[in-house]
Parts: sequence; structure tokens; C-alpha cells
Amino acid sequence: MIIIDDIAYVRSGTADLEAAVRFAVDVVGLEEVAREDGTAYLRADHRHHCLAFVEGEPGVLASGFTVRDAAALAAAELELERAGCHVERGDAAGARHRRVSDYLAFDDPFGNRVELACGQGTLARPVRFGRPAGITEFGHLCLDAPDVHEACAFWSTLFNIKISDWIGDRAALMRFDPVHHKLAVFQGERPGLCHLNFQVAALDDVMRSWHVLQNLGVEIEMGPGRHPQSTAVFLYFKGPEGLTYEYSWGVRRIEDDATWRPRTFDPEEPDSIDMWAGPTRKPGTQLQVGNRSAAAR
Ligand SMILES: [Fe+2]
Repeated sequence: MIIIDDIAYVRSGTADLEAAVRFAVDVVGLEEVAREDGTAYLRADHRHHCLAFVEGEPGVLASGFTVRDAAALAAAELELERAGCHVERGDAAGARHRRVSDYLAFDDPFGNRVELACGQGTLARPVRFGRPAGITEFGHLCLDAPDVHEACAFWSTLFNIKISDWIGDRAALMRFDPVHHKLAVFQGERPGLCHLNFQVAALDDVMRSWHVLQNLGVEIEMGPGRHPQSTAVFLYFKGPEGLTYEYSWGVRRIEDDATWRPRTFDPEEPDSIDMWAGPTRKPGTQLQVGNRSAAAR
């Protein structure tokens, strides 16, 4: 079994690097830590970056997770190959570019490009947030797949990933640590990144940002609302080139795996996605950039 330690980063292609960075810093509130060779690195917490914008074709390039060390990465490579995944091992330049010691890349069965890395860089200095949005950490990421049950089967068979809750056939909310979900898969016909999430410190931060974003003319996709599964108060909004960001506060922790039973919520019920029964729609997906070599990105 491949043991994922944490989420690491999202790499997203952009045709307008400046616009993507300006939104991430001035609107979302991230810190731009570096820019080199057409790539901008954005930071939200101890990670060197959790979001990298790469100049080029717009669309998500890869979603990254950390494993413990080089031995765990080597073991993961074997397990993935045994499971029939084509694995591309990263080179030194690619690792440097990602600020990791080593990494590999593969496609999940639905065409989402996934990277596993070890030795992700940590920054000791406090984050200089671009806006006081109250961000505390990179919270989770959400991929699309045509069949969320098949997606969960893939992740929970090969990885230390457990289902926390289902929203019928629309969503699988999964965990690998006590946080209710750090990986979600939403139903979508084509591979892509549905959204990336940032946790904020207080309910007030979510509500304050709601007004800030509206005043800036940002498209609010959903919320403020409260997910009954994770109990998180959420706000989804749209950035440039179809990248959806989410703020949330108050996510449930599942401390006792033995006693937790995944629940199924019927998406046709009006309060299954927002327990406050506000208007809901699936956040728009940034589609996966096609089949270029992972090592070349
Ligand atoms: Fe989310």
C-alpha cells in the first residue's frame, strides 16, 4: 500500500501568468515566493508552494502528494507499475523545479495527472499573505472522474485512502489523515481539477471574503454554505482560466477510524450539499492538459 503523507501542490498551466498571479495574490491572498523560467510559485503555509503557475497551455498539469521518503517513493513506483500504471520518474531538473527531492508522475485511470514526491521544501519564515483572508493552510484538492465509485476504488485499493462520505454518485470525499477529506473526486466527464481549497481561521473570514470578492467582481460559484458531510462552511469562487478556489472553515476531523461509518447523502435532496439549503451547483473544472510528457512540464 502506498502511504500518502499529505497533499503537496497543484501545477496549473496559464496563458497569462501575470493575471493568474495577480488573482492568486491580490484576491485569494497567497504569497508569490518565486518566479523563474515562466513559473510562478504561490505559498499559503509552511510548504515552499502549494500552487505553481506554469506559462503555457491553460489547464491543470498535475496534482501532487507527498510520501515519506525516497524509499517510500521507490516502493510506490513498484506498486503503481504492478497495478498497471505507467510511471514516469522525474529527473533532477524537474525535482528542483518542484522544490522536492524526488518525484514520479502517473495518470489515474481517468486521465488525471498525479505526482508523488518526497522532500517537499519547507519555508521557515512567516507567510506574507497578499490579502488578509485568514488562510491557515492548503486544505484539499478535488479531481474529476466520470465514476466516483471507480475513482474511490482506485485510490482506496492502492493508497492509504479511506472514504469518509458519499454524495450519491456525485462525490467521493476521502481522507488519509483525520481531516474529513483532503482528496475529493467529483463526477465529471473529463479529467481535471474541480477546485483547490484553502482553510481559513474563522467563520468571519469566510463571510468577510464573500463581501470582498463580490466587491471585486469575482464570480461566486457556490456559497457561503455549509457542507453537511464535513461540516465545513464553504465559499467557492472562480479565478482566471477556469481555476476554482475554495475557502472553508470548520472541517470535521475523524479521529477514530474504527468507529466512523461513511454515509451516503442523496444529491437530489435540497440540503445534501449545503445544509443551509442555499443554491448549489458543481464548481467549474479546470480541465487536464493533455498527454505531454510529465517530465517535460
Ligand atoms: Fe472542497
